[in-house]
Amino acid sequence: MGNELMRFSVAMPENLLMQFDQLVARRGLAKNRSEVIRDLVREALVEDECAELGREVMGTLTIVYNHHATDLESKLHEIQHRYLGSIISSMHVHLDPDNCLEVIVLRGESGDVRDIANMLLGIRGVKNGKLVTTTTGKNL
Ligand code: NI
Repeated sequence: MGNELMRFSVAMPENLLMQFDQLVARRGLAKNRSEVIRDLVREALVEDECAELGREVMGTLTIVYNHHATDLESKLHEIQHRYLGSIISSMHVHLDPDNCLEVIVLRGESGDVRDIANMLLGIRGVKNGKLVTTTTGKNL
């Protein structure tokens, strides 16, 4: 697969094109239509790869919890020790006297990463959280 730029034409409704041009403008002076389309295509390809079972992905899970919640911290630790092969790193931030934020970095098969994240998100006392997955995008 070559890396040279190929031209193609795209047809879309005028209203959609106007909104797209506003998006291009919001992304700054360094971006033009072609660059924003390339960004969107790469984003869609990475998202598609992450959804594919068996694919190796990286994930960052961000959670916010009240550290006074009963058993929460021991459960959080127990799961992280059980899956130490998939959990690469974590960062803990004390937000205020009660709340903590934790960012957990995972790497592994897409289904495993999602399952571990759901286990952590499901711990009673976790207020909110979100998993973001990505790939190396080797071919993009
Ligand atoms: Ni804390």
